[in-house]
Amino acid sequence: MTTGHRTAPTVHTAVVGLQWGDEGKGKIVDLLTSEHDVIVRYNGGANAGHTVQVGTERYALHLIPSGILYGDKTCVIGNGVVVDPEKLLQEIDTLRARGIRVGTNLRISDRAHVVMPYHKEQDAALEEYLTSKTAHDQGNLSIGTTRRGIGPAYADKVRRSMAIRVGDLLDPEYLRSRLHVICKLRTAEIEALGVKTAPLDPEALATRYAEFGERLRPHVDDTVYALHDSIRAGRRILFEGANASLLDIDHGTFPYVTSSNCSTLGIPAGTGVPGAAIGRVLGIMKAYSTRVGAGPFPTELDNELGHRIRERGREYGTTTGRPRRCGWLDLVAVRYSAMVCGATGIACTLFDVLSGFDEIKLCVRYRLPDGTETDRFIPDAHRLEGVTPIYETMPGWSDEIRDAADRDSLPATARKYLSRIEEVTGIPIEVVSLGPERTQTLVDGRRAIALATA
Ligand code: IMP
Repeated sequence: MTTGHRTAPTVHTAVVGLQWGDEGKGKIVDLLTSEHDVIVRYNGGANAGHTVQVGTERYALHLIPSGILYGDKTCVIGNGVVVDPEKLLQEIDTLRARGIRVGTNLRISDRAHVVMPYHKEQDAALEEYLTSKTAHDQGNLSIGTTRRGIGPAYADKVRRSMAIRVGDLLDPEYLRSRLHVICKLRTAEIEALGVKTAPLDPEALATRYAEFGERLRPHVDDTVYALHDSIRAGRRILFEGANASLLDIDHGTFPYVTSSNCSTLGIPAGTGVPGAAIGRVLGIMKAYSTRVGAGPFPTELDNELGHRIRERGREYGTTTGRPRRCGWLDLVAVRYSAMVCGATGIACTLFDVLSGFDEIKLCVRYRLPDGTETDRFIPDAHRLEGVTPIYETMPGWSDEIRDAADRDSLPATARKYLSRIEEVTGIPIEVVSLGPERTQTLVDGRRAIALATA
């Protein structure tokens, strides 16, 4: 046993969306990046998209953590991510063409699974099949995926014998031998969905993907050891969740979810770093709710109010351009995902979008089909479809709030809205985002441009 002086442990941070995605994580991650050394993605793939504004430049990233824009940060794509090498290389090329350094500062797990072209084909074919009349005597069962091959790639991971990992791309002979087996079966699976497709060509795929592997080789690493080395060296790590908690395969609105653990529970499995290493979890929550794709959405406003929120919030998908479904803030859902994620604080984003409404509603409970009430979320699409939201209604505010200097100078009704969220969730709102600019952010109640982490 040592009796010597122990320094305080380094605080590692997780940032995670508490709703169905598109909570404006990009801006918050960007603000937190300056306080960290290593930025890690642990789940999802090119289905995610975040936009970061640096000065007048706007960057849309799907796979590479936005920390890459800083030059001196290490960015890690962890083993829990599914990597589309073609998309990743395009992203690298685009960043380099704009003068951003992408070298040894980008590390990619050799154990991350690869999204192959046939995964995208299969994703689209399954969605088409489930949308078609022949399949939906029982109702349309399509998920409304991004068609980026995410589900089929994770399915292959679980099936094991059909999977390809980033490390396999570096061994052309091994890759070729696997693809010969995979392609035969895969062609049959795609055809079973009613799609006429040319047989997959294992030789052509092997050559192409081995080339991608060669280009990615300088970045491929055992990121589990690399992260633990960083932790021992006292470097601060920021874990960046993609998609969002209510889309988590285990804890979201199944089956209308994505295929990975997007909540913070995905961090240990998706990076090899135990959850106990994370001291701070900042849950990102939009001041209202949105959802893209199919699935239950109790507070959805399929009317003029929803349309107003969509237009004010520019609620169109970064990855697919689809209009997002919009509705009032669902605190039953947020409180649940904050609990699952272990959120220690909330960042409330897009708050300015709510200016100009006569009244604003907050969902605090659900009424169940049998007439009883509950304050518990139901992470099951079929049962969640049956609930009716119970709202608290508050007067809105008319002033624009984008340039408020502090929380105290917000209109009284806006302050009341924030306090009520804190009361219902039991979690402090540490950050309020009032607009797209870095300066339009309140941290611990005051205007700030960087977030303190300790
Ligand atoms: P997939 O991830 O492409 O399989 O899509 C599954 C569901 O998750 C669909 O409803 C998508 O619209 C949704 N989804 C996946 N990623 C995101 C995201 O980053 N933001 C919002 N929705 C997402």
